[in-house]
Amino acid sequence: MTPLDLAAAGEILQNGGVVVIPTETVYGLAARADHPDAVAKIFRVKRRPSNDPLIVHIADLEQLPLVAAEIPHEAWELAGRFWPGPLTLVLPKSSVIPDSVTAKLPTVAVRLPDHSIARDVIRSARFPLAAPSANLFGQTSPTRTTDLHPALIEKIDGYLEGGPCQVGVESTIIGFFPQQPPLLLRPGGVPLEEIEEVIGPVAPLAQAKEQTPLAPGNLPSHYAPETPLYFVDAIPDKVKKELVQGASICRLTLGQKSEDVAGETIAELNLSYESDLQEAARNLYKMMIELDRRKARYIIVDRVPAIGLGRAICDRLERATAR
Ligand code: TXA
Ligand code: MG
Repeated sequence: MTPLDLAAAGEILQNGGVVVIPTETVYGLAARADHPDAVAKIFRVKRRPSNDPLIVHIADLEQLPLVAAEIPHEAWELAGRFWPGPLTLVLPKSSVIPDSVTAKLPTVAVRLPDHSIARDVIRSARFPLAAPSANLFGQTSPTRTTDLHPALIEKIDGYLEGGPCQVGVESTIIGFFPQQPPLLLRPGGVPLEEIEEVIGPVAPLAQAKEQTPLAPGNLPSHYAPETPLYFVDAIPDKVKKELVQGASICRLTLGQKSEDVAGETIAELNLSYESDLQEAARNLYKMMIELDRRKARYIIVDRVPAIGLGRAICDRLERATAR
C-alpha cells in the first residue's frame, strides 16, 4: 500500500473512512469524531472493546470549545504551555461528540498533536479526528509505518507517512473532574514534574474518588510483545531454570550494560547508551517490536528510573511484562 497525500486522506475521512496518521507520540488510527459509523470501524479494525474511549485530536486551540463543554482554568494553562504536544486533557464533553467516541462517558479526551501532518489532515477532514494508537488491541504501538501490523493494514482505507515519531510514547493524560484535584490518568510524553510546575499537585489515579468515570483503558496488561517479557530483576524461578538450560533471550538495556543473565542471547538493543530518557522513549516501541521479531524464548529488560519520561517508559514496560 502506498501512502496517501493530504487531500486524498481528507476526502476519505470526510466520507467516513479510517486512515492511519502520524503524530509526535505514536501513529494513530483516525476517523472523524462526529461520524459514528467511522468511529465504529476504528473499534472493529483495532479489535478494541467498545467500553474503551478514544482521544479526539484537534488542529488548533480554537477547536477546544467545540468538543469540550467546560474548560477549567488549569486546563487552559496546560493547553497554553504544552500544546501542540504530547498531552491529553479529559474534560466534560460537548454534544457534538457521539457516545461511541467516549464509551458513553460524560467526558471527552482532547489533544492537539505536535506533528504538522496530523494538524493538516484534521483541517483537511474538516472536523476533529478520533484516534487511538494504531496497534491491535493490547499489542505494542507503532512509531513508524513499517511497524504497522499486517492485520490492521488490511482493513484501513489508507495511511499518511510522517516519518519516525519524535516522542515515542503516548501522551500524558490529565483528567479534570468536579470536586477533585487534577488526576494523572496515564503517564506519557510530558513529564509529570513539568505539569505540576504549571498547575501544582496532580493526584495519582489511586486517589480518585469512587464515582469518577476513570480511564477504562488502563488495563494491567497492554503494549505487550508476543514473546514473554520480564524485568532483569524479576525473572520467575521457572524461567531462570530454562535460561540456565540455554533458552534463547533478547535483551533490552539502558546505558551501561547491567548484570549478566543466563541463556543464549541472540539479540541485544540499548534504549540509550547515554541513559537519555528522551532517546529511550523514542526507541522503546521500535526496539520492542524488533526484538519480538527475533522470536527468542524470552525478552529480558533493564529497569528504567521512574523520573521524567522514565515514568511513562516504566509504565509501558510494566504492562508489557508477562503474567
Ligand atoms: O499519544 C496518544 O495519546 C496517542 C496518539 C495517537 O494521539 N493516542 C492514544 O490513544 O494513545 P489510545 O486510544 O491508545 O489511548 C487513549 C487512552 C485510553 O486508555 C482511554 O481509556 C483513555 O485514553 N481515555 C479516552 N477518553 C477518555 C475519557 N473520556 N476519560 C478517561 N480516559 C479516557
Ligand atoms: Mg493505545
